[in-house]
Amino acid sequence: MLMHASVPLGYYAAALRVLRKHKASGGRVSEEVISGVTIVVPTYNERNNIIDKLNNVADETKGMGESEVIVIDGGSDDGTADVAESWRPPPWVRLRVLREGLRRGKHVAENEGLSKATEDYVVFTDADSLWAPGSLRAALRALSRSDVGLVTCVKRPLNIMEVESGYRDLYNMLRLAESAMHSTPIAHGELIAIRRDLAIKLGGLRPGADDSELAHRVAMSGLRAVAVDGVICAEKVPRGQGYVEWRGRRAQHLVAYFASALRDLPRAPRGYRRVLAVEAYLHLVNPWLALAALALLLAAASMGQLLAIAVLALVALTVLAIPHARSWALMQTFLIVGALRNIRGRSEVWRKVEK
Ligand code: GDD
Ligand code: MN
Repeated sequence: MLMHASVPLGYYAAALRVLRKHKASGGRVSEEVISGVTIVVPTYNERNNIIDKLNNVADETKGMGESEVIVIDGGSDDGTADVAESWRPPPWVRLRVLREGLRRGKHVAENEGLSKATEDYVVFTDADSLWAPGSLRAALRALSRSDVGLVTCVKRPLNIMEVESGYRDLYNMLRLAESAMHSTPIAHGELIAIRRDLAIKLGGLRPGADDSELAHRVAMSGLRAVAVDGVICAEKVPRGQGYVEWRGRRAQHLVAYFASALRDLPRAPRGYRRVLAVEAYLHLVNPWLALAALALLLAAASMGQLLAIAVLALVALTVLAIPHARSWALMQTFLIVGALRNIRGRSEVWRKVEK
Protein backbone atom coordinates (compact mmCIF):
# COMPACT_ATOMS: atom_id res chain seq x y z
CA MET A 1 0.00 0.00 0.00
CA LEU A 2 2.88 2.31 0.86
CA MET A 3 4.48 1.55 -2.48
CA HIS A 4 1.21 2.24 -4.26
CA ALA A 5 1.00 5.65 -2.60
CA SER A 6 4.66 6.67 -2.77
CA VAL A 7 5.11 7.15 -6.52
CA PRO A 8 2.00 9.31 -7.02
CA LEU A 9 2.68 11.33 -3.87
CA GLY A 10 6.32 11.84 -4.84
CA TYR A 11 5.26 12.83 -8.34
CA TYR A 12 2.65 15.18 -6.94
CA ALA A 13 5.25 16.90 -4.76
CA ALA A 14 7.68 17.20 -7.68
CA ALA A 15 4.88 18.62 -9.82
CA LEU A 16 4.07 21.24 -7.22
CA ARG A 17 7.73 22.29 -7.12
CA VAL A 18 7.91 22.56 -10.91
CA LEU A 19 4.77 24.66 -11.04
CA ARG A 20 5.97 27.00 -8.32
CA LYS A 21 9.26 27.55 -10.13
CA HIS A 22 7.46 28.01 -13.43
CA LYS A 23 5.13 30.62 -11.94
CA ALA A 24 8.05 32.47 -10.34
CA SER A 25 9.81 32.67 -13.70
CA GLY A 26 6.68 34.15 -15.18
CA GLY A 27 6.18 31.29 -17.69
CA ARG A 28 6.92 33.18 -20.91
CA VAL A 29 3.88 33.59 -23.17
CA SER A 30 3.89 35.41 -26.48
CA GLU A 31 1.31 38.10 -27.00
CA GLU A 32 0.58 37.31 -30.62
CA VAL A 33 -2.97 36.08 -31.18
CA ILE A 34 -3.47 33.80 -34.14
CA SER A 35 -6.43 34.23 -36.38
CA GLY A 36 -7.40 31.84 -39.13
CA VAL A 37 -8.82 28.88 -37.28
CA THR A 38 -10.97 25.93 -38.28
CA ILE A 39 -12.99 24.41 -35.46
CA VAL A 40 -13.93 20.79 -36.02
CA VAL A 41 -16.87 19.40 -34.04
CA PRO A 42 -17.55 15.68 -34.52
CA THR A 43 -21.11 14.77 -33.61
CA TYR A 44 -23.06 11.63 -32.98
CA ASN A 45 -26.55 12.22 -31.56
CA GLU A 46 -25.82 15.62 -30.05
CA ARG A 47 -29.16 17.24 -30.81
CA ASN A 48 -29.48 18.59 -27.25
CA ASN A 49 -25.95 19.98 -27.14
CA ILE A 50 -25.09 21.28 -30.58
CA ILE A 51 -26.74 24.71 -30.38
CA ASP A 52 -25.12 25.56 -27.03
CA LYS A 53 -21.86 24.37 -28.50
CA LEU A 54 -22.13 26.53 -31.62
CA ASN A 55 -23.15 29.59 -29.60
CA ASN A 56 -20.15 29.08 -27.36
CA VAL A 57 -17.86 28.76 -30.39
CA ALA A 58 -19.38 31.95 -31.83
CA ASP A 59 -18.65 33.83 -28.58
CA GLU A 60 -15.11 32.55 -28.47
CA THR A 61 -14.26 33.40 -32.09
CA LYS A 62 -15.64 36.94 -31.89
CA GLY A 63 -13.05 39.56 -32.75
CA MET A 64 -10.67 37.05 -34.32
CA GLY A 65 -11.39 37.68 -37.98
CA GLU A 66 -13.31 35.04 -39.89
CA SER A 67 -13.37 31.54 -38.48
CA GLU A 68 -14.47 28.29 -40.04
CA VAL A 69 -16.62 25.83 -38.11
CA ILE A 70 -17.01 22.30 -39.43
CA VAL A 71 -19.63 20.09 -37.84
CA ILE A 72 -19.01 16.55 -39.01
CA ASP A 73 -21.91 14.28 -38.24
CA GLY A 74 -21.56 10.50 -38.09
CA GLY A 75 -25.04 9.45 -39.14
CA SER A 76 -26.90 10.70 -36.06
CA ASP A 77 -30.49 9.47 -35.94
CA ASP A 78 -31.70 12.33 -33.74
CA GLY A 79 -31.43 15.04 -36.40
CA THR A 80 -28.22 16.62 -35.09
CA ALA A 81 -27.06 17.65 -38.57
CA ASP A 82 -30.39 19.34 -39.34
CA VAL A 83 -30.33 21.19 -36.02
CA ALA A 84 -26.76 22.34 -36.74
CA GLU A 85 -27.80 23.53 -40.20
CA SER A 86 -30.68 25.50 -38.71
CA TRP A 87 -28.24 27.53 -36.60
CA ARG A 88 -27.70 31.07 -37.87
CA PRO A 89 -23.99 31.84 -37.57
CA PRO A 90 -22.78 35.36 -36.79
CA PRO A 91 -20.99 37.21 -39.64
CA TRP A 92 -17.55 36.11 -38.47
CA VAL A 93 -18.35 32.37 -38.60
CA ARG A 94 -18.39 30.26 -41.75
CA LEU A 95 -20.42 27.15 -40.86
CA ARG A 96 -20.12 23.89 -42.77
CA VAL A 97 -22.16 20.87 -41.82
CA LEU A 98 -20.76 17.66 -43.30
CA ARG A 99 -22.65 14.38 -43.16
CA GLU A 100 -20.75 11.12 -43.09
CA GLY A 101 -23.98 9.21 -43.54
CA LEU A 102 -23.02 6.50 -41.09
CA ARG A 103 -21.17 6.24 -37.82
CA ARG A 104 -17.51 5.45 -38.37
CA GLY A 105 -15.91 6.51 -35.11
CA LYS A 106 -14.90 9.86 -33.71
CA HIS A 107 -11.36 9.77 -35.08
CA VAL A 108 -12.58 9.08 -38.62
CA ALA A 109 -14.86 12.11 -38.42
CA GLU A 110 -12.05 14.25 -37.06
CA ASN A 111 -9.72 13.19 -39.86
CA GLU A 112 -12.41 13.96 -42.41
CA GLY A 113 -12.84 17.40 -40.82
CA LEU A 114 -9.08 17.89 -40.87
CA SER A 115 -8.90 17.11 -44.57
CA LYS A 116 -11.63 19.65 -45.28
CA ALA A 117 -10.22 22.39 -43.02
CA THR A 118 -8.97 25.44 -44.88
CA GLU A 119 -7.47 27.56 -42.10
CA ASP A 120 -3.91 27.21 -40.77
CA TYR A 121 -4.93 26.22 -37.24
CA VAL A 122 -7.38 23.51 -36.31
CA VAL A 123 -9.20 23.07 -33.01
CA PHE A 124 -10.96 19.77 -32.36
CA THR A 125 -13.71 19.89 -29.78
CA ASP A 126 -16.41 17.55 -28.46
CA ALA A 127 -19.99 18.73 -28.97
CA ASP A 128 -20.92 18.06 -25.35
CA SER A 129 -18.30 20.46 -24.02
CA LEU A 130 -18.07 24.22 -23.52
CA TRP A 131 -15.14 26.62 -23.25
CA ALA A 132 -14.84 29.23 -20.50
CA PRO A 133 -14.59 32.81 -21.79
CA GLY A 134 -11.23 33.63 -23.39
CA SER A 135 -10.11 30.01 -23.64
CA LEU A 136 -9.77 29.89 -27.42
CA ARG A 137 -7.65 33.03 -27.51
CA ALA A 138 -5.47 31.75 -24.70
CA ALA A 139 -5.04 28.44 -26.53
CA LEU A 140 -4.05 30.08 -29.80
CA ARG A 141 -1.70 32.44 -28.02
CA ALA A 142 0.06 29.48 -26.41
CA LEU A 143 0.19 27.72 -29.77
CA SER A 144 1.98 30.68 -31.32
CA ARG A 145 5.15 29.75 -29.42
CA SER A 146 7.57 28.04 -31.75
CA ASP A 147 8.29 25.16 -29.34
CA VAL A 148 4.60 24.32 -28.79
CA GLY A 149 2.87 21.93 -31.20
CA LEU A 150 -0.39 21.18 -29.42
CA VAL A 151 -2.49 22.92 -26.79
CA THR A 152 -5.19 21.39 -24.64
CA CYS A 153 -7.35 22.63 -21.77
CA VAL A 154 -7.69 22.07 -18.07
CA LYS A 155 -11.09 20.82 -16.98
CA ARG A 156 -13.76 22.23 -14.77
CA PRO A 157 -17.16 20.80 -13.92
CA LEU A 158 -19.90 22.52 -15.91
CA ASN A 159 -21.68 24.02 -12.92
CA ILE A 160 -18.74 26.12 -11.76
CA MET A 161 -17.67 27.37 -15.18
CA GLU A 162 -18.20 30.95 -14.08
CA VAL A 163 -16.02 30.79 -11.00
CA GLU A 164 -12.93 32.85 -11.80
CA SER A 165 -10.25 31.09 -9.83
CA GLY A 166 -9.63 28.84 -6.91
CA TYR A 167 -10.73 25.50 -8.23
CA ARG A 168 -7.84 23.33 -9.31
CA ASP A 169 -8.05 19.65 -8.89
CA LEU A 170 -5.26 17.17 -8.62
CA TYR A 171 -5.32 16.14 -12.25
CA ASN A 172 -5.27 19.67 -13.65
CA MET A 173 -2.30 20.44 -11.45
CA LEU A 174 -0.44 17.41 -12.77
CA ARG A 175 -1.24 18.28 -16.40
CA LEU A 176 0.04 21.84 -15.91
CA ALA A 177 3.21 20.67 -14.20
CA GLU A 178 3.88 18.10 -16.93
CA SER A 179 3.38 20.84 -19.49
CA ALA A 180 5.99 22.94 -17.70
CA MET A 181 8.39 19.97 -17.66
CA HIS A 182 7.88 19.36 -21.39
CA SER A 183 4.56 17.85 -22.43
CA THR A 184 1.51 16.21 -20.96
CA PRO A 185 0.67 12.78 -22.35
CA ILE A 186 -3.00 13.33 -21.43
CA ALA A 187 -4.95 15.76 -23.59
CA HIS A 188 -8.69 16.40 -23.64
CA GLY A 189 -11.03 16.08 -26.61
CA GLU A 190 -12.88 19.14 -25.33
CA LEU A 191 -10.11 21.28 -26.83
CA ILE A 192 -7.19 20.16 -28.95
CA ALA A 193 -5.53 23.00 -30.86
CA ILE A 194 -2.84 22.20 -33.41
CA ARG A 195 -1.41 23.57 -36.65
CA ARG A 196 -3.18 21.98 -39.57
CA ASP A 197 0.02 21.02 -41.40
CA LEU A 198 1.45 19.39 -38.27
CA ALA A 199 -1.73 17.36 -37.70
CA ILE A 200 -1.62 16.20 -41.31
CA LYS A 201 2.10 15.47 -41.19
CA LEU A 202 1.57 13.31 -38.10
CA GLY A 203 -1.13 11.34 -39.91
CA GLY A 204 -4.18 12.74 -38.12
CA LEU A 205 -6.04 11.13 -35.24
CA ARG A 206 -6.13 7.48 -34.26
CA PRO A 207 -8.86 5.41 -32.60
CA GLY A 208 -9.22 5.05 -28.83
CA ALA A 209 -7.82 7.87 -26.72
CA ASP A 210 -7.43 9.91 -29.91
CA ASP A 211 -6.82 13.17 -28.05
CA SER A 212 -4.03 12.00 -25.74
CA GLU A 213 -2.50 9.88 -28.45
CA LEU A 214 -2.09 12.89 -30.72
CA ALA A 215 -0.49 14.85 -27.87
CA HIS A 216 1.92 11.97 -27.39
CA ARG A 217 2.98 11.98 -31.02
CA VAL A 218 3.45 15.75 -30.94
CA ALA A 219 5.71 15.35 -27.89
CA MET A 220 7.61 12.53 -29.61
CA SER A 221 8.19 14.80 -32.59
CA GLY A 222 10.15 17.13 -30.31
CA LEU A 223 7.50 19.83 -30.06
CA ARG A 224 5.61 20.31 -26.81
CA ALA A 225 2.01 19.32 -26.07
CA VAL A 226 0.77 21.51 -23.27
CA ALA A 227 -2.24 22.18 -21.09
CA VAL A 228 -2.63 25.89 -20.39
CA ASP A 229 -3.98 27.46 -17.22
CA GLY A 230 -6.32 29.95 -18.90
CA VAL A 231 -7.68 27.38 -21.35
CA ILE A 232 -10.61 25.89 -19.51
CA CYS A 233 -13.27 23.53 -20.70
CA ALA A 234 -16.23 21.85 -19.17
CA GLU A 235 -18.07 18.76 -20.28
CA LYS A 236 -21.38 17.20 -19.50
CA VAL A 237 -21.02 14.23 -17.19
CA PRO A 238 -23.49 11.36 -17.34
CA ARG A 239 -25.21 10.23 -14.17
CA GLY A 240 -25.99 6.86 -12.61
CA GLN A 241 -25.24 3.70 -14.51
CA GLY A 242 -24.14 5.68 -17.58
CA TYR A 243 -21.39 7.27 -15.50
CA VAL A 244 -19.76 3.95 -14.72
CA GLU A 245 -19.91 2.83 -18.34
CA TRP A 246 -18.48 6.17 -19.51
CA ARG A 247 -15.60 6.26 -17.01
CA GLY A 248 -14.92 2.58 -17.66
CA ARG A 249 -14.59 3.06 -21.41
CA ARG A 250 -12.33 6.07 -21.02
CA ALA A 251 -10.06 4.21 -18.60
CA GLN A 252 -9.98 1.31 -21.04
CA HIS A 253 -8.83 3.64 -23.82
CA LEU A 254 -6.20 5.20 -21.54
CA VAL A 255 -4.78 1.82 -20.56
CA ALA A 256 -4.52 0.73 -24.20
CA TYR A 257 -2.98 4.06 -25.12
CA PHE A 258 -0.29 4.00 -22.42
CA ALA A 259 0.55 0.37 -23.16
CA SER A 260 1.34 1.31 -26.73
CA ALA A 261 2.92 4.72 -25.98
CA LEU A 262 5.34 3.02 -23.62
CA ARG A 263 7.11 1.49 -26.60
CA ASP A 264 8.29 4.98 -27.54
CA LEU A 265 9.91 5.57 -24.15
CA PRO A 266 13.54 4.98 -25.25
CA ARG A 267 13.15 7.51 -28.07
CA ALA A 268 11.21 10.11 -26.07
CA PRO A 269 12.72 13.62 -25.78
CA ARG A 270 14.48 14.19 -22.46
CA GLY A 271 11.95 16.22 -20.45
CA TYR A 272 9.06 14.13 -21.73
CA ARG A 273 10.64 10.74 -20.99
CA ARG A 274 10.20 11.01 -17.24
CA VAL A 275 6.62 12.24 -17.55
CA LEU A 276 5.72 9.39 -19.89
CA ALA A 277 7.42 6.81 -17.68
CA VAL A 278 5.63 7.95 -14.54
CA GLU A 279 2.21 8.31 -16.18
CA ALA A 280 2.51 4.91 -17.84
CA TYR A 281 3.47 3.44 -14.48
CA LEU A 282 0.54 5.18 -12.77
CA HIS A 283 -1.93 3.90 -15.35
CA LEU A 284 -0.59 0.42 -16.01
CA VAL A 285 1.21 -0.83 -12.90
CA ASN A 286 0.24 1.15 -9.83
CA PRO A 287 -3.44 0.13 -9.72
CA TRP A 288 -2.40 -3.53 -9.59
CA LEU A 289 -0.05 -2.84 -6.69
CA ALA A 290 -2.99 -1.51 -4.71
CA LEU A 291 -5.04 -4.56 -5.62
CA ALA A 292 -2.25 -6.93 -4.60
CA ALA A 293 -1.75 -5.07 -1.33
CA LEU A 294 -5.45 -5.18 -0.65
CA ALA A 295 -5.58 -8.91 -1.31
CA LEU A 296 -2.63 -9.56 1.02
CA LEU A 297 -4.09 -7.37 3.74
CA LEU A 298 -7.46 -9.08 3.48
CA ALA A 299 -5.82 -12.49 3.68
CA ALA A 300 -3.80 -11.45 6.71
CA ALA A 301 -6.80 -9.82 8.35
CA SER A 302 -8.91 -12.91 7.85
CA MET A 303 -6.25 -14.85 9.74
CA GLY A 304 -6.67 -12.44 12.61
CA GLN A 305 -3.55 -10.29 12.13
CA LEU A 306 -4.21 -7.12 14.06
CA LEU A 307 -1.78 -4.95 12.10
CA ALA A 308 -3.47 -5.91 8.82
CA ILE A 309 -6.86 -5.09 10.26
CA ALA A 310 -5.58 -1.71 11.45
CA VAL A 311 -4.05 -0.85 8.06
CA LEU A 312 -7.25 -1.91 6.28
CA ALA A 313 -9.30 0.28 8.60
CA LEU A 314 -6.95 3.19 7.98
CA VAL A 315 -7.23 2.77 4.21
CA ALA A 316 -11.02 2.53 4.42
CA LEU A 317 -11.18 5.66 6.58
CA THR A 318 -8.91 7.62 4.25
CA VAL A 319 -11.00 6.69 1.23
CA LEU A 320 -14.23 7.53 3.02
CA ALA A 321 -13.06 10.79 4.56
CA ILE A 322 -10.94 12.40 1.84
CA PRO A 323 -12.68 13.14 -1.48
CA HIS A 324 -9.39 13.07 -3.42
CA ALA A 325 -8.57 9.66 -2.00
CA ARG A 326 -12.04 8.50 -2.98
CA SER A 327 -11.73 9.63 -6.58
CA TRP A 328 -8.24 8.13 -6.65
CA ALA A 329 -9.57 4.76 -5.47
CA LEU A 330 -12.36 4.91 -8.04
CA MET A 331 -9.87 5.64 -10.82
CA GLN A 332 -7.71 2.66 -9.75
CA THR A 333 -10.76 0.45 -10.00
CA PHE A 334 -11.63 1.74 -13.47
CA LEU A 335 -8.03 1.24 -14.63
CA ILE A 336 -8.01 -2.38 -13.43
CA VAL A 337 -11.36 -3.14 -15.01
CA GLY A 338 -10.23 -1.30 -18.16
CA ALA A 339 -7.09 -3.40 -18.45
CA LEU A 340 -9.11 -6.61 -18.04
CA ARG A 341 -11.61 -5.47 -20.65
CA ASN A 342 -8.80 -4.71 -23.10
CA ILE A 343 -7.91 -8.40 -23.10
CA ARG A 344 -11.23 -9.01 -24.82
CA GLY A 345 -10.51 -6.16 -27.24
CA ARG A 346 -11.90 -2.66 -27.40
CA SER A 347 -14.28 -0.94 -29.71
CA GLU A 348 -13.49 2.08 -31.83
CA VAL A 349 -17.10 3.18 -31.66
CA TRP A 350 -18.73 3.47 -28.27
CA ARG A 351 -22.30 3.47 -27.07
CA LYS A 352 -23.72 6.95 -26.69
CA VAL A 353 -24.29 7.61 -23.01
CA GLU A 354 -27.14 10.00 -22.15
CA LYS A 355 -26.02 13.16 -20.36
N1 GDD B 1 -18.94 11.93 -36.31
C1 GDD B 1 -18.84 11.17 -35.19
N2 GDD B 1 -18.81 9.80 -35.32
N3 GDD B 1 -18.76 11.76 -33.97
C2 GDD B 1 -18.67 10.96 -32.88
C3 GDD B 1 -18.66 9.54 -32.95
C4 GDD B 1 -18.73 8.95 -34.25
O1 GDD B 1 -18.70 7.73 -34.41
N4 GDD B 1 -18.58 9.05 -31.68
C5 GDD B 1 -18.54 10.11 -30.86
N5 GDD B 1 -18.61 11.27 -31.57
C6 GDD B 1 -18.56 12.63 -31.05
C7 GDD B 1 -19.56 12.94 -29.97
O2 GDD B 1 -20.80 13.38 -30.49
C8 GDD B 1 -18.84 14.05 -29.19
O3 GDD B 1 -18.99 15.29 -29.81
C9 GDD B 1 -17.38 13.60 -29.28
O4 GDD B 1 -17.27 12.79 -30.43
C10 GDD B 1 -16.91 12.83 -28.03
O5 GDD B 1 -17.77 11.74 -27.84
P1 GDD B 1 -18.43 11.39 -26.42
O6 GDD B 1 -19.36 10.25 -26.60
O7 GDD B 1 -18.89 12.62 -25.75
O8 GDD B 1 -17.12 10.82 -25.74
P2 GDD B 1 -16.56 11.06 -24.30
O9 GDD B 1 -16.60 12.48 -23.88
O10 GDD B 1 -17.19 10.11 -23.41
O11 GDD B 1 -15.06 10.63 -24.67
C11 GDD B 1 -13.90 11.13 -24.16
O12 GDD B 1 -12.94 10.13 -24.25
C12 GDD B 1 -12.65 9.74 -25.57
C13 GDD B 1 -11.65 8.61 -25.49
O13 GDD B 1 -12.16 7.56 -24.72
C14 GDD B 1 -13.52 12.40 -24.94
O14 GDD B 1 -12.46 13.05 -24.30
C15 GDD B 1 -13.13 12.08 -26.32
O15 GDD B 1 -12.60 13.25 -26.93
C16 GDD B 1 -12.12 10.95 -26.34
O16 GDD B 1 -11.89 10.58 -27.68
MN1 MN C 1 -18.09 13.72 -23.99
